[in-house]
Amino acid sequence: MNLRITSRHWSLSTVLCLFICAGASTVLAQDTTVARTPPMGWNSWNHFACKVNDQVVRAAADTIVSSGMKAAGYIYVNIDDCWEGKRDDVGIIRANEKFPDMRALADYVHSQGLKLGIYSSPGPKTCAGFEGSFGHEEQDAQTYAGWGIDYLKYDYCSFRGDVAAQIAAYKKMHDALVKTGRPIVFSLCQYGMDRVWAWAPSVGGNLWRTTDDISDDYDRMAYLGFGQKGLERFAGPGHWNDPDMLEVGNGKMTSDEYRTHMSLWCLLAAPLLAGNDLAKMSPETLAILTNSEVVGLDQDSAGIQGRRVAQEGPLEVWVKPLADGSKAVGLFNRGESIMPVTAYFQDVGAGESADVRDLWARKDLGVFKGQFTTQVPKHGVVLVKIK
Ligand code: GLA
Repeated sequence: MNLRITSRHWSLSTVLCLFICAGASTVLAQDTTVARTPPMGWNSWNHFACKVNDQVVRAAADTIVSSGMKAAGYIYVNIDDCWEGKRDDVGIIRANEKFPDMRALADYVHSQGLKLGIYSSPGPKTCAGFEGSFGHEEQDAQTYAGWGIDYLKYDYCSFRGDVAAQIAAYKKMHDALVKTGRPIVFSLCQYGMDRVWAWAPSVGGNLWRTTDDISDDYDRMAYLGFGQKGLERFAGPGHWNDPDMLEVGNGKMTSDEYRTHMSLWCLLAAPLLAGNDLAKMSPETLAILTNSEVVGLDQDSAGIQGRRVAQEGPLEVWVKPLADGSKAVGLFNRGESIMPVTAYFQDVGAGESADVRDLWARKDLGVFKGQFTTQVPKHGVVLVKIK
């Protein structure tokens, strides 16, 4: 992150390129062989950062299975930065001493019915200063495929270049991945610069970060999550906006705040990559991550990203239309004390009279006419399905 260059300068070539790429996306849009619904899994970065190693990844895979997370849909076990070693004489990347045998690790993860993800950069160095893929794209893609990798997060970091150069660099790696013949989810990470959402599908992106890094902090999470307003038209099956990984269970937010985080990410059809220490997770954290009715919104087959339909100061109502015609509705209170929040059925696209079910409480609340009003705690949410 410290190595990144942020250029928000819009040159003529930038504007031209965005125009051309917007057109190109209809032709080149990522197919839905992978990531038909937002990817779900775990990533090492938010909790372990550079302390990740083979044991940590195996333990995460074990817990995903034993805890019921796999059954809830969490499939990808993703190694983030800090796995990289040196290149050999012919330029082939090797893992460092913390990952003695990447192929064996992939076999282990696959034997659990899970998939393995890895991380690199289009620049010469990753954000933590390890080897990036610059100049070695094809070699690296082949190496990953040979190991059995199923997901690549490709992080801008030390890359230098305007938007046209970024597009070329991300496309280069995508083409290299395609050439391996192995289905590999392609995750762009360049922090939402240069309207990435407008061109990421055209370079094969299955997901693209729309923001700089999340942290385990309510204000930061809320700034990123609620800031997705307006990006909904860029997401759909096979290509998703990514407001960064989950912090649920990392300890610095309240339960209401973590439920807000999870509810918002599911309404946004965001990738759900848990970022906590799974082996030490509390029953409450597990319950937040695996509530099937909440996760079901994220994974809904229609693949529609939710949008904000009403705001009154710190009170917001967000809606995600679902494949069965019902609406998932989040009533959020970003304020500092408990307050009533109202969802008007006209705003959410429901009929005059509708059934309301509370998804966190897993409870039918009855039939309501015209509107639904409920008390929402400070920084909290009431998440309902309206039918
Ligand atoms: C950047 C990314 C993070 C993480 C780190 C690793 O900051 O945004 O998600 O991958 O790099 O160094």
